Amino acid sequence: MSETVTGAGVGADWRGWQNSWDRQQEWYMPDREERFRVMLDMVEACVGPAPRVLDLACGTGSITDRLLKRFPDAVSTGVDLDPALLAIAEGTFAGDPRVTFVTADLKDAGWVELLPYDSYDAVLTATALHWLHSEPLAALYGQVAGLVRDGGVFMNADHMIDPATPRINAAERAHRHAGMERAKAAGAVDWADWWALAAEDPVLAGPTAKRYEIYGEHADGDMPSVAWHAETLRAAGFAEARPVWASPSDTLLLALK
Ligand SMILES: C[S@@+](CC[C@H](N)C(=O)[O-])C[C@H]1O[C@@H](n2cnc3c(N)ncnc32)[C@H](O)[C@@H]1O
Repeated sequence: MSETVTGAGVGADWRGWQNSWDRQQEWYMPDREERFRVMLDMVEACVGPAPRVLDLACGTGSITDRLLKRFPDAVSTGVDLDPALLAIAEGTFAGDPRVTFVTADLKDAGWVELLPYDSYDAVLTATALHWLHSEPLAALYGQVAGLVRDGGVFMNADHMIDPATPRINAAERAHRHAGMERAKAAGAVDWADWWALAAEDPVLAGPTAKRYEIYGEHADGDMPSVAWHAETLRAAGFAEARPVWASPSDTLLLALK
């Protein structure tokens, strides 16, 4: 990845890293952008065009980026644990007073205390909470319910697996993976390739080494069903919860406080 000389000295090409992150994630989810669009439609529908948002497990700040482009009067707090992805997020939004990033482990009970606000109009997350097993995820949902104001929303866009439909799940997975293999043969960059590029970058090499110490290669939870997410969110204090969008592999679930 190239470097750009700025007035402040030498910095990485943050927009280039954002774009390559998007391409890598789209290899797994070709309809990722559509999913973000519906998420922001539902933010506008439920809490209006100037929300205070928590971008939960924000990575490079993909949700925050789309949020601020569409709703310039929004503000966002991004929280994540990955030092390399947070470096890209912080580099991208440097100097933007609407955005704050917080380094925290969502499995640590105290992460909420590190936030700059004690309540949010919307807590939004994508392709992240499947890293957590059901038990810590249920505890996290309890904390999220405490952060969303009455009338506010939580949305989770992620891979959710229905154990009652094993043959549909297997067929969908095989079809999706065949498409991914074709894209890979045509040059698509996957997760491992992308992290290898980051490890070679002079600015990201250090934080990338640290993220491998924290996570290892990857961490998957048990990916519970849509019904489990909706029930757990209602038990945590949300009044309503249901999917507002789905693809064959992913669901965008909305919970209203
Ligand atoms: C695949 S990335 C998705 C990032 C972003 N939401 C997006 O859609 O591009 C998953 C993110 O979840 C974060 N994450 C996973 N477990 C976490 C935890 N326990 N605490 C904080 N962040 C976590 C990872 O660091 C990573 O940035």
